[in-house]
Amino acid sequence: MNKIYINGKYFDSESAKISVLDRGFLFSDGIYEVIPKVGPDWVGFDEHLSRMQQSCKELHIDQPEENWSEVAEQLLHDEGYDNDQSCFIYIQVTRGQMPMRNHVYSEITPNRVAWLQPMSVPSKSEVAKGVKAIFQEDLRWGRCDIKSISLLGNIIAKNAAVKAGAEEALLVKGDFVLEGSSCNLFIVRSGTVFTHPLSRQILPGVTRRLLVEVLNEQSIPLVEEPFTQTEVLKADEVWLTSSTKGVIPVTQVDQKKIGDGESGDLWSKVYDEFQKKYLSEV
Ligand code: PDD
Repeated sequence: MNKIYINGKYFDSESAKISVLDRGFLFSDGIYEVIPKVGPDWVGFDEHLSRMQQSCKELHIDQPEENWSEVAEQLLHDEGYDNDQSCFIYIQVTRGQMPMRNHVYSEITPNRVAWLQPMSVPSKSEVAKGVKAIFQEDLRWGRCDIKSISLLGNIIAKNAAVKAGAEEALLVKGDFVLEGSSCNLFIVRSGTVFTHPLSRQILPGVTRRLLVEVLNEQSIPLVEEPFTQTEVLKADEVWLTSSTKGVIPVTQVDQKKIGDGESGDLWSKVYDEFQKKYLSEV
């Protein structure tokens, strides 16, 4: 990425600068969004902006007044992207900077930053190979519904997964498995789909919401209730959802096969329906 948007202006990445007194840098006092563009289509753009508003509201960060779709279009233009090229826009809003480090904040102007990153979109047969996951204790804070830039708990879990030869960590709090370190989690048992209900313990994923819509339209039963590690291991299918990955099957958790160790039929169906509903080029 070469161009960075900061507070109303566009910079080359080498000259893009934010103060060391920025509260995001000092305290992780900020929020972010990752919005995907799959081929020519932005997926869930408005939903991501609504969640950003909600995150700002919860943290009493002033609402940014940017027209984010104009910022996205400008960055696409400046970076020379083709209409069909997939990427995501990363948007970060921090509370802003104060003259000195101080836990107590005052009314200040938020710092707004955005850039594009290229994103590879694998074919269905590639995605169907599935990913491996491991269970990890959820070390995150008590407001995981806010898309805070404070991600150490997620980072520790994700890196433990990669170290174990897996792609994702499924976060366990008490008796229940909540979500992945960077995605939401669904399991399938006898044709019924289960996912953790929205609460302060999980991120209200945009892809989760889009998938729920597909399930409802297809009359596939969905139950939003907590489930255990044992239930994950006994599931017929396990899926992960995120903006950068879409809907992907998990074929192994903690070295144990899920179902027969292959992506499942229901995943294949909802994957197709998801593509049909949200993407113009399938
Ligand atoms: N992560 N849960 C967590 C903890 C996440 O970090 C994410 C997204 C999701 C899925 O949300 P969505 O469908 O809105 O992308 C669930 C992004 C992609 C990231 O941190 O890069």
